[in-house]
Parts: sequence; structure tokens; C-alpha cells
Amino acid sequence: MQALSCRALIAWVLLAMWVLSPAHAQQPVPAAEYAYEPVIGMPGKDVVWVPTPPAAVELMLDMAKVTSRDFVIDLGSGDGRIVLAAARRGARGFGVDLNKDLVELSNEEALRLGLSERAQFRVQDMFRTDLSPASVLTTYLLPHLNVRVRPQLLRQMKPGSRVVAYSFHMGEWQPDAVAQVNGLTVHYWVVPAAAMGTWRWQYDGVGFSRDYEMNVRQRFQFINGSASSKSSFAYLRDMKLEGDRISFTLTEEAGSALAQTHYEGRIDGDAITGTARINNRTEPTPWRARRVAGRTEIEAVK
Ligand SMILES: C[S@@+](CC[C@H](N)C(=O)[O-])C[C@H]1O[C@@H](n2cnc3c(N)ncnc32)[C@H](O)[C@@H]1O
Repeated sequence: MQALSCRALIAWVLLAMWVLSPAHAQQPVPAAEYAYEPVIGMPGKDVVWVPTPPAAVELMLDMAKVTSRDFVIDLGSGDGRIVLAAARRGARGFGVDLNKDLVELSNEEALRLGLSERAQFRVQDMFRTDLSPASVLTTYLLPHLNVRVRPQLLRQMKPGSRVVAYSFHMGEWQPDAVAQVNGLTVHYWVVPAAAMGTWRWQYDGVGFSRDYEMNVRQRFQFINGSASSKSSFAYLRDMKLEGDRISFTLTEEAGSALAQTHYEGRIDGDAITGTARINNRTEPTPWRARRVAGRTEIEAVK
């Protein structure tokens, strides 16, 4: 109880600082044409209600490249502005909030704008929301809440889906991009696939055929590792993971010369399917690898 009230106090202080900042002072309070008029700073379960300024909403959707192919979920959706703005771009989605008046207001606004087919709002705890339908997840929460929802989104969202957070970070998970508009900051992440573990494959290079084993370590979207083949030494450079796309360059002995093979592929469960191109000379040839051990969660749910 003591810990909870301390957290609530921190939440109040941090958001009050934002409310009083010049950036927020310029933002109009939502129009009062409905029976219910929300008040900036009013308490919510885990965090108070403060709306994301319109310029930051647009920046969030721009960074996530939201189109009509997307499904957007906003956690703690307030007056619904983020999902409504996404629906104006043709996307579908929903917002969850525990304040039923805000949820009602959002649904009324969706109806008024003719967007209720594409944007829905429901009274629901964000920590009990299934995030798997989201190709884009948006938050304007305090850092400790972003960090709390992090394992949930990493487990449930598909690799390659995007996360955008207004103002606050996600702790140890470094953003893939950060952008600003009018002094307002938005962080952007791509959900990585689980790439860790031991992978094996056979590759027919020019004049040789070899079996390879690669051990990959992973911290969110960052990977590194080592590789070996039965008949030569090998090392890995330029390992990259973006969503479900993995790429790296493997260097090894080939007679008295060195062969460099650039691999790129997509991770799907315990398989990688892609291409390999040796010494940048030959046409790419098909590459398939199989994970034989070591798959874990990117981050365990606490
Ligand atoms: C800072 S406001 C952000 C509103 C909106 N996402 C925006 O950017 O304009 C945070 C919202 O989270 C809601 N909230 C707090 N705890 C929640 C929880 N556990 N589940 C769902 N919503 C919650 C609050 O009622 C508030 O509307």
C-alpha cells in the first residue's frame, strides 16, 4: 500500500511537470461539446490522464508509418485521440482505459467522426489486454509502466510490428529511433524476433560444401555470436536483427584464400529462410537454417 501511494505520487509529479511545461500549455483542452468534460491531470488507476499533444500524435503515426493495413492499440487511451487519428489514416484499432467516462467519450467521438467501424474503445486494464492483434502499439505512460508492459508486448506482438511511445522510454530496451516536433519527443521500436540459440545449416560454397553452427546471444534487438564449421575457422561480422530479418557476414578459410559469405533471411519460429551470397560475386543461393537449441523468451514475464 505504502509502495503504491509512493508510485502514484511519482506519477503525479512527473505528469504535472508535463502539464505545466510550455509544450502542454499550448495544447487546447478537448472540446466541451459532450456531457462529460475530462480534466487534465485527473487520476487514473496507474497514471493520471494527460492527452498527447496533436503534433506528437501525428509524429507517432508518421514514425510507425501507419496505413490502412495497420491495427493500432493504444494502452490507456484517454479521450481516444491516437486511435482516432490512426483511423483517419485508414487504420483499424482499439483503445483501452479504465476510466469508463473517457471510454464513452471516445466511442461517441468515433461515432461523430464516422470512424466507429474502425476505432473502438473499451473499459479494460492495459495489463490484461491481448496485444497480439497490434501491428502498432502506442503508449503515453510513465517509464515504469512502459517497462511493466514490455515483456507482455515482446511476447504477444509479432516480430516486425512497431511500438511508439510519446515522451517516455522503455528502460533498457533502446529505441530504434527518436524524433522530436515542437520540443515533444517520440520513441520508436521494432519488435524483434527471438534469434538467440544454436542454429545449424549446410551451405554449398564455390568448390566446397560445409556444415555450420552459429551461437547467437540476444539483448532485445541487439545480437552477437560466433560461428564454426567442421573444416575451417570462421567468424561473424555485421550481425543485425530488424524485426524478423536477420543478416550477418561469415568469413572463413577457402583454400589459401578467405571466403566471405553474406547471409540474410527471415526468422519464423525455429527456422530461417533466406539467401547467401559468397564474396559478393555469385548470385545469391537459397539458405535455410534450423534452431537446434537455446530458444528462450526475449524477456520473461515477471
Ligand atoms: C497519460 S494518459 C494518456 C492518454 C492517451 N493515450 C493519450 O496519449 O492522449 C494515460 C491514461 O491511462 C489510463 N490508465 C491508467 N491506468 C490504466 C490501466 N491500468 N489500464 C488502462 N488504462 C489506464 C488513464 O485513465 C489515462 O487515461
